[in-house]
Amino acid sequence: MNKILFNDEIVDRDLVVDIEDRGYQFGDGIYEVIGVYDGKPLMMKEHLIRLERSAKELQLNLPLPAGEMEEKLEKLAAANELKEGIIYLQVSRGTSPRWHEFPPDDTPPVTIGYTREEERMSDMEDQGANAVLTEDIRWLRCDIKTLNLLPNVLAKQKAVKHDAVEAIMHRGETVTEASASNVFIVKNGALYTHPADNYILNGITRQKIIELCEKLGLDVHEETYTVDALLDADEVFVSATKSDIIPILKVDDHVIGKGKPGEITKSIIGEFRKLYS
Ligand code: PDD
Repeated sequence: MNKILFNDEIVDRDLVVDIEDRGYQFGDGIYEVIGVYDGKPLMMKEHLIRLERSAKELQLNLPLPAGEMEEKLEKLAAANELKEGIIYLQVSRGTSPRWHEFPPDDTPPVTIGYTREEERMSDMEDQGANAVLTEDIRWLRCDIKTLNLLPNVLAKQKAVKHDAVEAIMHRGETVTEASASNVFIVKNGALYTHPADNYILNGITRQKIIELCEKLGLDVHEETYTVDALLDADEVFVSATKSDIIPILKVDDHVIGKGKPGEITKSIIGEFRKLYS
């Protein structure tokens, strides 16, 4: 049977979530998704540092320090013989009678980690895909990776309905990010992406791309840009764990650039692939 991490133990996956788990009732918890390539987790440390930050912002206690968590997750991936896929890790504020305020201080958090096999999305990375636009209706702390994902769920469903891979969100005129990924545009050889403030999740893939662009001698501006600038871009791509970098060919009915993956996007994809091959 597939194994899971439950608090600090690796156990069989026949566990039932308590009906008064605060993650289940309030979305009161945080999570991370870590990509595994050829048996190796990618940028696990960075994900766990972000988990620690999310926990701090929500005054939530983590059950284990990042170093120990990393060891447990590596053991879990090995126990499940995971070659290609993801590790999902979630920490809720624990189980307690349902009242909105925090439970008593001695309530232990509930941690669940599991693995899932997933193929690499190399074809989509090579060929690109379409996106739709949608208003960003989320709260003002999108920098915290919380379990509250309803606006993201609705946005992604809109994308799926229109045969698109992503829904790119905007607050008024300003593009923020997509339902489950960050957005980059390329204009006249330079890249633009929303600054890492409270309006977006500072993607681990996003941060790595910015680092790789420096290596490639590409200018990256962490600046806001408008919906018009997005539609008028030479290239657009989205970035997230495991789907990595997907070139966007069309946004709603607007063809982006030449309607095929751009040269700059392709060079970044090439550099990113070196991280795991
Ligand atoms: N989502 N922005 C949002 C809203 C996201 O949900 C994600 C990732 C990202 C990209 O972050 P990263 O590069 O660290 O994966 C940006 C994950 C994959 C998910 O919820 O499944």
